[in-house]
Amino acid sequence: MERVTGDRDPADLSRTFRDVLGRFASGITVVTSLADDGPAGFACQSFASLSLDPPLVLFCVAKTSTSWPRIRATGRFAVNILAADQRDECRAFAVPGGDKFAGTAWSRSVHGTAHLDGALAVVDCLIDDVHEAGDHHVVIGAVRDLRDHRDHPPLLYFRGAYADGVFT
Ligand SMILES: Cc1cc2nc3c(=O)[nH]c(=O)nc-3n(C[C@H](O)[C@H](O)[C@H](O)COP(=O)(O)O)c2cc1C
Repeated sequence: MERVTGDRDPADLSRTFRDVLGRFASGITVVTSLADDGPAGFACQSFASLSLDPPLVLFCVAKTSTSWPRIRATGRFAVNILAADQRDECRAFAVPGGDKFAGTAWSRSVHGTAHLDGALAVVDCLIDDVHEAGDHHVVIGAVRDLRDHRDHPPLLYFRGAYADGVFT
């Protein structure tokens, strides 16, 4: 059994951190908004529900993200929860920069965000708070609209690989 201790060398700790945290399976989202210069978005696994009253959600974004400053400037975001048949979309949105929306069907929402066609559900938010934490920002969103679009298995991520979430 691997354990992380404070006296590990940094390279070993980084590898073990990725290895161990990669064992936490999750769904995948694409966080978007509509900036002045067009839609912005990136693949995001660190989405979570935070509070029911008031309704809040959160995600974590790397300080190196090129989309986040554009999303942040709009003051809002949408979380598109991906379906199992959206692996290609996920890969496209996991690449920095470029026109990620070119090969993806999407629409402008009334909230000024981008909704991806085929998403299982979308959560529209206003940016409520942003905390700095290590090499990421923790972004808290105040929910203003929720839509469930499809009854379809989710796209899952586990140990660096995609899986279809089929539940019986
Ligand atoms: C399955 C998956 C989950 C990801 N989750 C996150 C995440 O939670 N936060 C983050 O900042 N980047 C995450 N990424 C990486 C970003 O999508 C990637 O760095 C992307 O290039 C950022 O694009 P940008 O520079 O346009 O913001 C994830 C990538 C994949 C493939």
